[in-house]
Amino acid sequence: MTANARPKVIVTGRLPADVERELLARFDAQLNPDDRPYTARELQQALQTADGVLTTVADRITADVLDVPGRRANIIANYGVGYNHIDVQAAKALGITVTNTPDVLTDCTADLAIMLMLMVARRAGEGERLVRAGQWLSWRPTHMIGTRVSGKTLGIIGMGRIAKATARRAQQGFGMKVVFFNRSRLSPEQLEGVDAQQCDSLEEVLAQADFVSLHCPGGEETRHLMNAARFAAMQRHAFLINTARGDVVDEAALVEALAQGTIAGAGLDVYEHEPRVPAALLAMENVVALPHLGSATHETRNGMGLMAVDNLSAFFAGQVPPNKVA
Ligand code: DGY
Repeated sequence: MTANARPKVIVTGRLPADVERELLARFDAQLNPDDRPYTARELQQALQTADGVLTTVADRITADVLDVPGRRANIIANYGVGYNHIDVQAAKALGITVTNTPDVLTDCTADLAIMLMLMVARRAGEGERLVRAGQWLSWRPTHMIGTRVSGKTLGIIGMGRIAKATARRAQQGFGMKVVFFNRSRLSPEQLEGVDAQQCDSLEEVLAQADFVSLHCPGGEETRHLMNAARFAAMQRHAFLINTARGDVVDEAALVEALAQGTIAGAGLDVYEHEPRVPAALLAMENVVALPHLGSATHETRNGMGLMAVDNLSAFFAGQVPPNKVA
């Protein structure tokens, strides 16, 4: 970057208007008004031609992409809290700073986890499809009976920020008991007012939960954490909720568990190979399938964008960006 020139920033996805305005005000920003996904080669070209790249969770930033010859960019400001789509170790090794957008999406993602729980238990998607198809005959005492949510047990896997917000809603809104598994032991202070019982193993959670909600990060360590054996360890009447990352679930094993009645249903916002969703899942009435909407509110998507912009500004000002993850 030449002295006094505005840093060049390439943005790989279309962002909310307020965020794009801010990007254009602060940087020499190249936007993506058509929202066309970047290929690996285009991501490499972005790294070669810009001072910083603002990516989204739909981009695959592999070691090969990062290790492009003649790289100019030294920062990847990710629009999203999860960064398992970025090879952070490779970025570190190459001296590329990576930032994310935590906190601003906690409440909306927790709201969505609760929504999925209610939708799948009360058969909301199925009911809506029926009404829209003009197939609702009349009110009948035995029609579309679902499962009560209030007072049930919520089992949480991974007790981070979004999990705690989900647990609070479940407890305060629905009088649910909360049990959880987390890799490290959490003190009462770390639970931040959530009244939840930590279990020693994931299986202990699965054995008692009526709803199992996933909140651990994606990536190699958690890949297929929910596999055939773990579905078998759940109660037959229990539901799986996933607002975390698709690869935490072995999708083929989930299809089998649902088909065999090993579990009662699933509320999903994320998938192993987004945007592809297995046809078998879509054919099941006891599956609620949303298109990765956890953070999709005006407030949150603006907040995420402005956070990414601030991370870029701090970096170009020679400071450590507030949300540096590598
Ligand atoms: C994230 O930020 O990681 C979400 O999955 C997308 O909002």
